[in-house]
Amino acid sequence: MPDESIASLRARLREAARAAGVNPRDVDVLLADVTGRSQAWVFAHGEERVDPAPLETLMARRMRGEPLQYIRGRTEFFGREFFVDERVLIPRPETELLVEAAIARAPRGARVLDIGSGSGCIAISLERERQDLEVTSIDVSVAALAVASRNARVHESVVRFAASDVFDAIRGEFDLIVSNPPYIPAADYDRLETEVRDHEPRGALTPGPRGTEVIERLLDGRSAPTVMIEIGFGQLNDVRQAAAGYDIVEVINDLAGIERVVVLSRHGRK
Ligand SMILES: C[S@@+](CC[C@H](N)C(=O)[O-])C[C@H]1O[C@@H](n2cnc3c(N)ncnc32)[C@H](O)[C@@H]1O
Repeated sequence: MPDESIASLRARLREAARAAGVNPRDVDVLLADVTGRSQAWVFAHGEERVDPAPLETLMARRMRGEPLQYIRGRTEFFGREFFVDERVLIPRPETELLVEAAIARAPRGARVLDIGSGSGCIAISLERERQDLEVTSIDVSVAALAVASRNARVHESVVRFAASDVFDAIRGEFDLIVSNPPYIPAADYDRLETEVRDHEPRGALTPGPRGTEVIERLLDGRSAPTVMIEIGFGQLNDVRQAAAGYDIVEVINDLAGIERVVVLSRHGRK
């Protein structure tokens, strides 16, 4: 087995990463993964010798543009680890704002519907943090639902997952709807970073030409008294137009100051 010192392997691949426009820190993250040690251990044991091949293989994927989270098969969201692969969107930190808002606002015992499960990160986080809630989560992608169910098992979550195109296969009433829907207008899709465009599911990113197609459907008459939606940059006015039966009661900005989560209440309710 060819071997190389950790210090030499690390320096060599960090340099290659930099040259390829990849964050050299990714080398340290993956080095810790392949050695099964912490990053602190890796820094302190530069003289140890390892087989360079596993890390070279992973870094080759990274330098071809594959997201770090898919290579590692996991990411963190709201303090929990979620399995992810190319069947689901990689959970984003700003989506934690939606979970926080739902935790704070959901009435005790509320029936909650999450539209667009993806990895299950919203529904599972909400159900684990607020075990009084009855959480259902739907996705049009059966492939995404397989990932969400796997995450639910790991976290011993009792979220009910189902396949549905927005409300099409849904029966029953809900007190609260939460959703991080696909919201990127189709024309903007080609301008996304290649890392996103070439690896994350298109159906998780763009719903059609306007970007608001799923949002419009989830704000129709069959919706719940309260709806919380993650929106895209500059989309608040479009949401206002689509929300004829609702008042916007709160808009939460993300850390970049972008209007990111909209809380809507059906007319006549607080
Ligand atoms: C932006 S991703 C959000 C995933 C996850 N909730 C998160 O926050 O990371 C949107 C999800 O909505 C799903 N989706 C897209 N169109 C849908 C539709 N018409 N009905 C139900 N789900 C849909 C996609 O398959 C995708 O999993």
